[in-house]
Amino acid sequence: MQIFKIDKPFVLTIFGASGDLAKLKLFPALYSLAEQKRLPKEYYIVGYARTKMSNQDFHKIFTDSIKKAHKNPDPKIIKSILKHITYFAGQYSRKSDFIEYRNYLKKLKGPKIMMKLAYFSVPPTVFKDIIKNLGDTRRRPNEDLRLIIEKPFGEDTQSAEELFHFVARYFHEEAVYLLDHYLGKSAVQSILNLRHANRMLNLMMKGPEVANIQITAFEKLGVESRIGYFDKVGTVKDMIQSHLLQILALVGMSIPISETEESLHREKYTILSALRFIESQKNLVLGQYEGYNSQKDVPKSSKTETFAGLRLFIDRESWYKVPIYIRTGKQLHEKHTYVVVELKKFGFQPKEEEPNRIIFELQPNEKINIRLINKHGAKSNYQSLETSDSIACDGDFCLPEHGLLLLDVVRQKRCNFLSFPEIIATWKIIDKITNFVKKNKPKVEKYKKGSPGPRSQEDLTKLDGFKWFDNH
Ligand code: BG6
Repeated sequence: MQIFKIDKPFVLTIFGASGDLAKLKLFPALYSLAEQKRLPKEYYIVGYARTKMSNQDFHKIFTDSIKKAHKNPDPKIIKSILKHITYFAGQYSRKSDFIEYRNYLKKLKGPKIMMKLAYFSVPPTVFKDIIKNLGDTRRRPNEDLRLIIEKPFGEDTQSAEELFHFVARYFHEEAVYLLDHYLGKSAVQSILNLRHANRMLNLMMKGPEVANIQITAFEKLGVESRIGYFDKVGTVKDMIQSHLLQILALVGMSIPISETEESLHREKYTILSALRFIESQKNLVLGQYEGYNSQKDVPKSSKTETFAGLRLFIDRESWYKVPIYIRTGKQLHEKHTYVVVELKKFGFQPKEEEPNRIIFELQPNEKINIRLINKHGAKSNYQSLETSDSIACDGDFCLPEHGLLLLDVVRQKRCNFLSFPEIIATWKIIDKITNFVKKNKPKVEKYKKGSPGPRSQEDLTKLDGFKWFDNH
């Protein structure tokens, strides 16, 4: 099998290198790239953050994160990557630090021209500072500098548009990669691949055949060290705005005939821009886990939701009146992400009989599962057709999300990145919801840590006579 390797030397600057995102996702992904021998001979990884520390301190952070994420990491591989890693302490808002950084890079690599990747592993509040300073201190306007900006891009439609215009002042659109790591999950990528390649699956997933779509993303973790960011945004913006609406787009979009990034983004946009939230308390469930506002740095009166459930529609002829239910929350009983496409029943089927369901298990066990009904006498029961292999990439050359996406940036493949119109379309629907919440102050139901979340989530599906499918 031909595997893609980076063959050109590069410099990767990780802004926010001492933060959680870098430790949890980026460093382990770099290890996987090295393990699979996909890195070139010459490359530089520089951690850029405000905290003062030595290269040795940073190496320790890097090594610890690898040891946490990988089962038995090879010390030789770690040692080989560390040779390429250094640390630079600087402010994000200070231009002089960026000038100094530019000179630092020059000393590090000499006068060679290299592809430069700037990874934003920082809170959105400092995006603009970094963009401005990178733009202002570039040696040449056509320098090969690619920005990788992780969601959230903006905090509502207006700020996302402003940010877009701000970036455009300094960089061409082609230099910017808007990253949602869910699009780097190979199981999520499989949704469209499976639909693309299997007529039987795709025919079943057409609007007129579908009774409802359910998207569930349960998380066991709480918010821990990211509370300062999270308390301001809440689950609707943190999880639904990008991750779960992107999954919905992959499930509901028409299959692009040509596999170009333009056609892919256009079809996704068609779904995302047609989403409708009917403003009513009935279509929204908010929850907060008990003890959330006794955590450090959370205001006692915080009503920030750590659980959200939504009922949406897609205003397209093909999806007319098919309800979409989305639910996600933190501190729940399990880590489990899955999509259920529930098919319509025949008119003659008894009411109590279960419907057919197509289930995309996205994490932790990546499978596709089709539920059939069988009958013996009066008794009907479910039988399940399940893929024997994982629908995620399985084997020696699989990569975690950030590894895969980093390779995509290097080869300038944008299919698995967000387009700006998609981002705006999702903010528009999220703005509708957050404005509704601001105006109507709906109840935020408390739920116990380790439970399946607020009871009122059941009311959402009941509105249309359906039930959430808890796939165990
Ligand atoms: C992040 C959110 O984007 O995704 C987090 O900000 C969330 O709150 C995380 O926990 C979930 O990612 P994953 O890959 O663990 O499902």
